[in-house]
Amino acid sequence: SSEAELIHVFKGIPFTTRSSPELLKSLDTFDAREDDVLLVSYPKSGTHWLAGVITKLYNTQVTLTSPIEFGDISKLEELNKLSSQRIIPTHLDYNMLPPNFKNKKCKMIYISRNPKDTAVSMYHYYRDNPNLPTVDTWTAFFDLFLKGDVVCGSWFDHFLSWEEHENDKNILFLFYEDMKKNLPKIVNEISLFLGLNVSDSDIQDICKKSSFSEMKSDTEKENSDPNHTVCALTSNRKLIFRKGAVGDWKNHFTPKQNRRFEEIFNEKMKLSKM
Ligand code: A3P
Repeated sequence: SSEAELIHVFKGIPFTTRSSPELLKSLDTFDAREDDVLLVSYPKSGTHWLAGVITKLYNTQVTLTSPIEFGDISKLEELNKLSSQRIIPTHLDYNMLPPNFKNKKCKMIYISRNPKDTAVSMYHYYRDNPNLPTVDTWTAFFDLFLKGDVVCGSWFDHFLSWEEHENDKNILFLFYEDMKKNLPKIVNEISLFLGLNVSDSDIQDICKKSSFSEMKSDTEKENSDPNHTVCALTSNRKLIFRKGAVGDWKNHFTPKQNRRFEEIFNEKMKLSKM
């Protein structure tokens, strides 16, 4: 399919046509519930990993939905009908988030990842996913990523829009790299933030079940129902669990690309603490 059939731009941000303009327009009217938990990320930052951890932490019934911005106008009604506690993923930047989540001070967990690794992960996702425009080479994708001309727009704008709220008590900031380094510590942090009482041995168990290899092999055993992917941009869950490593960017970036990336990073992020 051509780019025009797959992508449309809403409020300056590229979305796939799987997010209908009508749905995006109606998000402002979304009725959040106080106990909703939002799982926020720029794509390819570890959303599925975090979703896997969070759903295992609850021993009450919770429903992990597809991202709030995916679907057509009937989406809001569907979410309304859910009776159990909702864990709602989203790739929206802070400014586009339905205001009700902010007014009700819903708990939100923002996961981010080294943008260099995020770019590489997204490149592979674009390449292997027929629901996204074709990219011919890594070099071409690298330029698109830096320009923010990819789904969900600029990594920098996304991160900065959320980082502005890093001191909000209802938002927990996490890094993919910290999860790789010490998953039990981060799982403990998440459970405290969510007010859940989880024993150390349960945490160990959750970490074991959330390893890359376990999650990848679970996926291979399941069917390919798109409703089972948080991302919903693919019915092929195998695309999600690619390498799961820190630093894969070193296998893709040329020294020149790295210098250019760093220049742009330093410029865009000059007011950021990152
Ligand atoms: P790679 O493409 O670098 O392998 P998202 O869920 O936001 O789409 O992010 C997908 C990225 O998270 C992929 O990165 C994927 O491999 C990685 N990932 C998924 N589950 C993981 C896990 N259990 N441990 C480590 N990385 C994981």
